[in-house]
Amino acid sequence: MVCLGNICRSPLAHAILEKNTSDIIFVDSAGTSNYHIDSLPDSRMIEKGKEYGYDLTKLRARQFQEEDFKKFDLILAMDNDNYKHLIKMVKNPDDLQKVKLFLSNDQDVPDPYFGKADGFEAVYKIINEECQRLANKLDV
Ligand code: 4NP
Repeated sequence: MVCLGNICRSPLAHAILEKNTSDIIFVDSAGTSNYHIDSLPDSRMIEKGKEYGYDLTKLRARQFQEEDFKKFDLILAMDNDNYKHLIKMVKNPDDLQKVKLFLSNDQDVPDPYFGKADGFEAVYKIINEECQRLANKLDV
């Protein structure tokens, strides 16, 4: 799960997917930027997760690394900007097919960071719905 800061969208997706899939699926998240390395998720997203039963407080932001292309089978970008960033980082052409947009309708998950509080509820709903779909698709 990859967004820009790894403090809003991708940590929420990380927590939801991890809780709704079995242990054989390893879920992680990262940001394409280095803005918030080692930070807790944004407090507004921690609160939103808590409201729906997801604990985000053990997560810390990290920056996506080239080695992640080797480590992961599927790399999902929260929006087109981050998708393009990841695609530019690809060195091995086989890794290209691992990178996809998170939303199956190819839309962007809006970035709630600079918006109002109700943006976090809207983003929660978008991410949760897609995570439930993903969990059903991925889990065995
Ligand atoms: P995220 O949100 O990519 O969903 O974690 C953002 C967090 C921080 C910033 C931008 C987006 N920022 O510019 O610091």
